[in-house]
Amino acid sequence: MGRSSNRGGKTTPPNQPVVLVGMMGAGKSTVGRRLARRLALPFTDADLEIEKAAGCSISDIFEFHGEASFREGERRVIRRILEGPPKVISTGGGAFIDPETHKRIRDKALSVWLRADLDTLVKRVKRNNARPLLKEGDPRTILEGLMTERDPTYAKADVVVDSGDTAIEKVVDAIVAAIESRHDGQQ
Ligand code: S3P
Repeated sequence: MGRSSNRGGKTTPPNQPVVLVGMMGAGKSTVGRRLARRLALPFTDADLEIEKAAGCSISDIFEFHGEASFREGERRVIRRILEGPPKVISTGGGAFIDPETHKRIRDKALSVWLRADLDTLVKRVKRNNARPLLKEGDPRTILEGLMTERDPTYAKADVVVDSGDTAIEKVVDAIVAAIESRHDGQQ
């Protein structure tokens, strides 16, 4: 039986960090929190850690220091949180696209692409208007462009799970099952 098995109702966590990647609005933080609870692992939201380390909001980092500075902080923070005991980590949409962060996640963690269709993303990002990249024009057009650019990189994640309009617990079930079958397939 795999390390992340939930057969018989018990879920044993994997022995490496589980990192959720994917577009803004895919539900990485919400799903990550629930997945962590299911796997009995701590949960870390990389964007919140970046804000804590910088002492200001992501919007302010973009506005006063620029995206390059944000990515630098993101690289540093994700490198740090990947160390230590296994945990579930949600990352900002651009993290897995940054070559250095991408490699580090691939080397140290089990990556999960939370994939969602454009309509779902557009609907979800409307709930939070603090995302600097979406303030530069029509959110739908921006998201569509970013999906075209980024999806081939997200597709390199170890596991791909659709989050669409599915209930959160079902998404968590799918991730646990995917992790488990991946592990079983390696034995
Ligand atoms: C970004 C996504 C955001 C945040 C920053 C940049 C991106 O995180 O990291 O605004 O490049 O897609 P969420 O994916 O949690 O919204």
